[in-house]
Amino acid sequence: MTGVSFRPAVDEDAPALVDIYNHYVSTSNVTFDLDSWTPEDMARKIDAVTALGMPFIVAEHDGELVGYAYLSTFREKAAYDTTMENTLYLRDDARGDGIGGTMLEELCRLGAIAGVREVIAVIANTPDASPSIRLHDKSGFARVGEMDGVGRKFGEWIGVVMMQKSLARD
Ligand SMILES: CC(C)(COP(=O)(O)OP(=O)(O)OC[C@H]1O[C@@H](n2cnc3c(N)ncnc32)[C@H](O)[C@@H]1OP(=O)(O)O)[C@@H](O)C(=O)NCCC(=O)NCCS
Repeated sequence: MTGVSFRPAVDEDAPALVDIYNHYVSTSNVTFDLDSWTPEDMARKIDAVTALGMPFIVAEHDGELVGYAYLSTFREKAAYDTTMENTLYLRDDARGDGIGGTMLEELCRLGAIAGVREVIAVIANTPDASPSIRLHDKSGFARVGEMDGVGRKFGEWIGVVMMQKSLARD
C-alpha cells in the first residue's frame, strides 16, 4: 500500500490505538490479554516506552491511524537492556497490504538508533498468528524457540514461538 507514513505516538492517539488492539483481544489468540485495554492503559504504555527511550510509532494512511508498533522491555534484569520485545498491530481492514513489513522495518531502524542489539518477537503458536510468524520470517527474524501451553484463552492451551533479529553492527 502506498501513502503510509509513520510518526511517534502521542497520548492523544490512545483511543484509536485501543480500538485497533481490542479487536484482537476479544476475537483472537494473537494476544494473551484477556481483557480490553482502556485509552488510559494505552497512554501509560506510550509514556513508558517513550520514557525508556524506545520507539512507539503509529502508521497513518489517508489521515487515519491504521496501525502501531513499539519496542519494550524483554526481561527486567539490567543485562537485558539492549534486548527489546517488539509489538505491532494493524487495523483489521489494513492487513494484507504489506504495511506490517514497512512498519517493522521502521521500528527496527529506530531501535538500532536507540541502541537496541536484539529484537525478540513472542508470537502465539496458533493459526490466527500465522500471518505474524510469516511477516517476521520475511523481515529477517529467525525462529529460535518454542514453548508449549504457556497461555490459556478461549478454553485452549496456547504455546508461543520465539523469533529473533539481531540489529548489532559489531
Ligand atoms: C501480523 C501483521 C502485522 C502483518 O502485517 P501485514 O501488513 O498484514 O503483512 P503482510 O501484508 O506482509 O502479510 C503477511 C502475511 O500474512 C498473510 N495475511 C495478511 N493478512 C491476512 C489476513 N487478514 N488473514 C490471513 N492472512 C493474512 C499474508 O498472506 C502474508 O503472507 P504471504 O507473504 O505468505 O502472502 C498484521 O496482519 C496484523 O496486524 N495482524 C494481527 C495482529 C498480530 O498478529 N500482531 C502481531 C502480534 S505478535
